[in-house]
Amino acid sequence: MSNRTIAITGASGKTGSRVAEELMASGDRPRLLVRSSSVIPYTLMNAEQVRLSLQDPTALDSALKGVDALVIATGARPSIDLLGPMRVDALGVRSQVESCLRVGVSRVILVSSLCAGRWRHPLNLFGLILVWKRIGEQALENSGLDWTVIRPGGLSEREEALNVEGVYWSGPDQQENDSIPRRLVARCCLEALNTPASIGRILEVTSDASRPIISLSEALLSIDSTR
Ligand SMILES: NC(=O)c1ccc[n+]([C@@H]2O[C@H](COP(=O)([O-])OP(=O)(O)OC[C@H]3O[C@@H](n4cnc5c(N)ncnc54)[C@H](OP(=O)(O)O)[C@@H]3O)[C@@H](O)[C@H]2O)c1
Repeated sequence: MSNRTIAITGASGKTGSRVAEELMASGDRPRLLVRSSSVIPYTLMNAEQVRLSLQDPTALDSALKGVDALVIATGARPSIDLLGPMRVDALGVRSQVESCLRVGVSRVILVSSLCAGRWRHPLNLFGLILVWKRIGEQALENSGLDWTVIRPGGLSEREEALNVEGVYWSGPDQQENDSIPRRLVARCCLEALNTPASIGRILEVTSDASRPIISLSEALLSIDSTR
């Protein structure tokens, strides 16, 4: 599929910018929804940009008008502000979901995290981030929208040899360790967008060079056969 307009929030981030790059490479038009202070990588200089606050419903509604889907790649940046995860990963996701409902954007992909919903986890030292991420996920799951949650493992910046690296897709709460390059997470988001069978699913993703490369459709069959 191509020639769609896909909004991406968190498009100035390391994963969101790669989602936008992958969309451009596949013939879609990314619309970057970023803050007034966000720095966009030069690779996306020619992409459409909308500067806004996610807390401004009117601006968000107007930025989402006419898009075919939304990819949410926002995430609280590590800082001493321990309320960031609540504001960005829960309330920020909820406000984006509410805007999609108002504007009529039905397809939404959310980049969340392995272990979302866990209370006892070292990552929660940063403002209970995994708890707030799960609340953000639930806002999307309960919305009635056509949603897919992608929960990646530890993210890396590695760009080498990714074309021969297989993704391990699983259902929710199956994985807790391992990692995945952000570029592959971006490709997973695109594959989910292009795979209607991924609607209504939480999908955990990690990757390893020793894993075979399989499509998301094949992975879903395998997940369903082991349920
Ligand atoms: N790091 C990991 O190992 C890991 C593992 C699993 C899942 N995750 C999750 O995966 C996602 C992507 O991670 P990443 O490391 O690629 O992200 P990142 O580079 O930290 O980018 C975060 C994005 O969110 C935006 N953002 C932050 N606070 C915002 C706010 N209040 N309003 C609007 N936008 C805001 C940032 O905008 P600015 O550029 O303006 O700051 C940026 O575009 C995040 O949800 C993260 O929690 C991370």
